[in-house]
Amino acid sequence: MPSENHPSNARIVVVGSSNTDMIVQIGRIPGIGETVIGGKLHTAGGGKGANQAVAASRAGARVVFVGRVGSDGFGKTMVAGLRRYGINVSYVTRDKRAPTGVAFIIVGSGGENSIAVASGANLRLCSGDVAKAKEVFRQGGILLVQLETPLPPVRAAVTLAAKLGMRVILNPAPAQPLPDTLLRKVDILTPNEYEAELLTGIRVDGEAAAARAADRLRRRGVKTVIVTLGSCGAFVAGDGCRTLAPAFKVRAVDTTAAGDVFNGALAVALAEGRPLLEAVRFGQAAAAISVTRIGAQTSAPSRAEIERFLRKHLLMAPSKNALAP
Ligand code: ATP
Ligand code: RIB
Repeated sequence: MPSENHPSNARIVVVGSSNTDMIVQIGRIPGIGETVIGGKLHTAGGGKGANQAVAASRAGARVVFVGRVGSDGFGKTMVAGLRRYGINVSYVTRDKRAPTGVAFIIVGSGGENSIAVASGANLRLCSGDVAKAKEVFRQGGILLVQLETPLPPVRAAVTLAAKLGMRVILNPAPAQPLPDTLLRKVDILTPNEYEAELLTGIRVDGEAAAARAADRLRRRGVKTVIVTLGSCGAFVAGDGCRTLAPAFKVRAVDTTAAGDVFNGALAVALAEGRPLLEAVRFGQAAAAISVTRIGAQTSAPSRAEIERFLRKHLLMAPSKNALAP
């Protein structure tokens, strides 16, 4: 049932990574061997899995996060933060042997970034962690997974979700080759340009190439492919659509986690039963708001903010950004 904290009936299970992000916002990203001073430090919750969980929860869904953190201060802060966002953290394991993941992120003045991750406990997430959460998979909804953890728990989660009739969204980030046996169980695959290129061998340098890459991935068994193209939008192929959904125009301050916020909000809209293109617009609105703010989880907008943004932008550009009725 929708409630004040969860103004949606969507149920989302996220299996994935969590990191403490150390973000340095600076005039320009240093080259190799170079030192640039004058930056500003922000420390915040991150990690693709946790970011997507927060984005989905902020967009109104009931969210369960399955992941691993260390038995250290960062892990404690991470779990407390996720709980504050209203996320069920009962299936987050405190690992005794590895530290909480940490990401060092440098953000330049145009919002562009460079990220180095020490994965720590994320690399010890295992299929057993997924099996322990079987009960929440049984409750249905959407499974959202990424590739910042080892592949066996990703496979286990996708296989379990498919068996129990959940819809599966795989955000194949960071890029790595994937077997067709896995892709065949994926309902919606959301690569960015680089991930689409690694998975298909097609250099994705625009809409036409994104369309070709999407077609190739669909031939490998994925039902719907959404190739995200940053400020150029997203190419959507599947469920009767084959079109570019242009991005909303905003002034980007930090594009970190744009993809995560897009995936989290997209999952909520799909779990609510919205048509594909409408769900993509909802995800894109959330992502557009997020790039105007610093940080990953800190940049994810609330449902009210997403709805307000959509109302404003639909009025400004009804032909391009029109939602399905
Ligand atoms: P990241 O790795 O930074 O989390 P990503 O590469 O996975 O992101 P993107 O393709 O950059 O994902 O972004 C996902 C969606 O977010 C895009 O399809 C677009 O709608 C929106 N978006 C990203 N960057 C911008 C931007 N600068 N302005 C407006 N919308 C944006
Ligand atoms: O997608 C953004 C995320 O990638 C950051 O929060 C960082 O932790 C890395 O995992």
